[in-house]
Amino acid sequence: MITEYLKVDKTGFNSEELVPAAKALINGELVAFPTETVYGLGAVFNDDPALKRIFQVKGRPGDNPLILHIWERKQLEELVVAVSPKHEKLMAAFWPGPLTLIFPKKPELSPVISAGLPTVAVRMPSHPVAQELLRLTGLAVAAPSANLSGKPSPTRGSHVRVDLDGKIPFIIDGGPCDAGIESTVVCFDHGQPVILRPGAVTAEMMEAVLGESVEQVGLNAKIDRPQAPGMKYRHYAPKAPVTLVEGSQGEVAAKINQLLQETGSGVKQVVICFSDNIKAYENCIVLDLGPRNQPEIAAERLYDLLRDCDQLAAEQIYIEGIENSGIGAAVQNRVYKAAGGKVVHA
Ligand code: TXA
Ligand code: MG
Repeated sequence: MITEYLKVDKTGFNSEELVPAAKALINGELVAFPTETVYGLGAVFNDDPALKRIFQVKGRPGDNPLILHIWERKQLEELVVAVSPKHEKLMAAFWPGPLTLIFPKKPELSPVISAGLPTVAVRMPSHPVAQELLRLTGLAVAAPSANLSGKPSPTRGSHVRVDLDGKIPFIIDGGPCDAGIESTVVCFDHGQPVILRPGAVTAEMMEAVLGESVEQVGLNAKIDRPQAPGMKYRHYAPKAPVTLVEGSQGEVAAKINQLLQETGSGVKQVVICFSDNIKAYENCIVLDLGPRNQPEIAAERLYDLLRDCDQLAAEQIYIEGIENSGIGAAVQNRVYKAAGGKVVHA
């Protein structure tokens, strides 16, 4: 299949440019498109063969449900059976934006979307290209991240191309994604808000709106709460093994240098570190996550740097830990997953 690669300037495009992609979606084709979090691989919500093709193309396990994307509030009516006052508050505060909410689903909604769960995940993206594409399509669009399953999510059109060129008819390149990590996923457990996947909308931000504490499902915690099924898989991983090294700025540098030395110069080693430590490492390739006190920059860069590791044919990767609060919690969560849980404390 020949993939049409369409470049769109998100700050000034003509709606006409997106019409062929919207038509492709309506005709049951898959279209990759930019959002403010990561790129999505879309199919219209009412076309089961198209929805199933998402799973085939990505190599995605069938028990991992999809997020529906809408561009206006009234589309919710045909997707969900109930909207609680807490849902209302969060939607009013954070939609459009990087927050996915779990709702009880309409029974007629395809089980392919929700992987057999009684619930459905919905979000309203704020990216202008995503919004216009959804408006032209006129239907809710199911879209997981537009990467091959297990790879880092795409935050540039070029990332989508590496993974999906020749496999789908359309890639819309709208430039780099602002947030750089996937949306926050929130469900309600007996009315209690629970973060299933941390993202750019943080627990603190939602607590300020809801006036109650918002729990985050722990990385290793044994929980009897509903989880985002997708979070159980090893994710976001480059080809080489990743080690997450936690501790203070100085301790981390000392520990990583020790590990670099132990492995030796015969192995191609990459360190992903904060700018503060950029000069602390020798005999390795150093990639820059931005200043330690600006975790939003780390979020924007992380997946791009993980993909660079593949381009560089890295054989061993060390990543400095980030403070586990605010959007740092989301970054830490993704690094932990990329490392397959391999953490060293300096
Ligand atoms: O930012 C994002 O959310 C991106 C862009 C494209 O919108 N999409 C995305 O989709 O990250 P995906 O498929 O890569 O991740 C969806 C996550 C998975 O962890 C999945 O298990 C969870 O949402 N999820 C979907 N439906 C759910 C449900 N009904 N209950 C619990 N978790 C659900
Ligand atoms: Mg994904």
